[in-house]
Amino acid sequence: MYSEKVMDLFRSPHNMGKIENADGIGKVGNPVCGDVMYIYIKVKDNKIADIKFETFGCAAAIATSSMITDLAKGKTLDEALKITKGDVAEALEGLPPIKMHCSNLAADGLKAAIEDYRSKQGKGKGQAAPKNVKQEKKE
Ligand code: FES
Repeated sequence: MYSEKVMDLFRSPHNMGKIENADGIGKVGNPVCGDVMYIYIKVKDNKIADIKFETFGCAAAIATSSMITDLAKGKTLDEALKITKGDVAEALEGLPPIKMHCSNLAADGLKAAIEDYRSKQGKGKGQAAPKNVKQEKKE
């Protein structure tokens, strides 16, 4: 039922693990089955310099996670955001229809990691902390 490519990546996934001090972390859960995926990215010059994943899910979820890390590595953030679940499934030589929902995790996880990175950047760049927070004496 799975393609050879899916089975290969399930047996020997690429880029599996965690990046300490990641610039962005995406955590997504699959509402269909309850499986969970984390995507960690390191960004340099607006490109994905490193990417890893941890997936608590089925064979298809592990293979799609592995595939999306390979597809995204070295791409600019905007290019990486354009990777769809269809691209992932196609690169895997297809997924059984009943397993297509599993490929949502990978594409959504990558987007979440990029959004997390961008929101952290926004906070760090020149936006001063709000000053209207009064210090109150709590006694
Ligand atoms: Fe949950 Fe595939 S069955 S991600």
